[in-house]
Amino acid sequence: MADDGPDGWGAPLHARVLELAGVAAGTTLLDLGCGPGLFARAAVDRGAVVTGVDVNPAVVAAAERAVPEGRFRVGDAEEPPPGPFDVVTGVQLLQHVSSPLAVLRGAGAIGGTVVVTVWGRESECDIGAFGEVLGRWLPPRPTPPGPPPVTDPDRLVSLARTAGLDVVQLDEVLCPFTYPDADELVGPLFETGMGRAAMNRAGPGAVREAVLERLEERRQPDGSYVLQNLFRVLLATPTNGTVVA
Ligand SMILES: C[S@@+](CC[C@H](N)C(=O)[O-])C[C@H]1O[C@@H](n2cnc3c(N)ncnc32)[C@H](O)[C@@H]1O
Repeated sequence: MADDGPDGWGAPLHARVLELAGVAAGTTLLDLGCGPGLFARAAVDRGAVVTGVDVNPAVVAAAERAVPEGRFRVGDAEEPPPGPFDVVTGVQLLQHVSSPLAVLRGAGAIGGTVVVTVWGRESECDIGAFGEVLGRWLPPRPTPPGPPPVTDPDRLVSLARTAGLDVVQLDEVLCPFTYPDADELVGPLFETGMGRAAMNRAGPGAVREAVLERLEERRQPDGSYVLQNLFRVLLATPTNGTVVA
């Protein structure tokens, strides 16, 4: 599942992270996997003093442009700057790192509060319908070996505890993905690897028709489509509580 969605989809998620973390004027916040700075922008707008880290130099440059008040650097979330910070966040990061445990452990070592977000289970996100439809023309996806993904809430909580964090809250946020019309809904699919593979097999017309049929119940009277996707926000504090920013 890609984290890409229509512009603005993350606003409710960002607002909930800031609210749960109690971010206010002067809060020092480290944003791990900051991407192009959308969450950092929202944090600065609430008065936070933001440092952002991401492995991708291009998105770090974009974050610097979007949030000139922040400090950004290229780096690995598993080796964060020393801090301490009042709050360390990882918004939609854990699914992309090789060791979510190392990221959580590192965050707890330098943050008074740690907040991370993940997608809900595939069955809890309308966007899963895309994979379901495209899968008709693709080889079956093997279940990866090993433990359940971090989108499994029990696994997320267990990882946080193993990382030495006390889980204070596991919250759920519904983020609507709104597409103005059918073209905007289907078009981006053909830019994904799965979408291209399905299109090569079935042709763009058949894929488009199947997607629209599957998501007909999400079509609004004005022709737009609204997909509801669930995200989880985990709020935690270091077990020994020794971090003082
Ligand atoms: C799905 S994006 C989320 C970006 C941003 N937090 C947001 O919510 O818009 C995941 C980000 O994590 C970054 N990333 C992946 N692995 C990383 C790592 N080991 N250390 C730091 N950043 C990482 C990617 O470059 C990408 O910008």
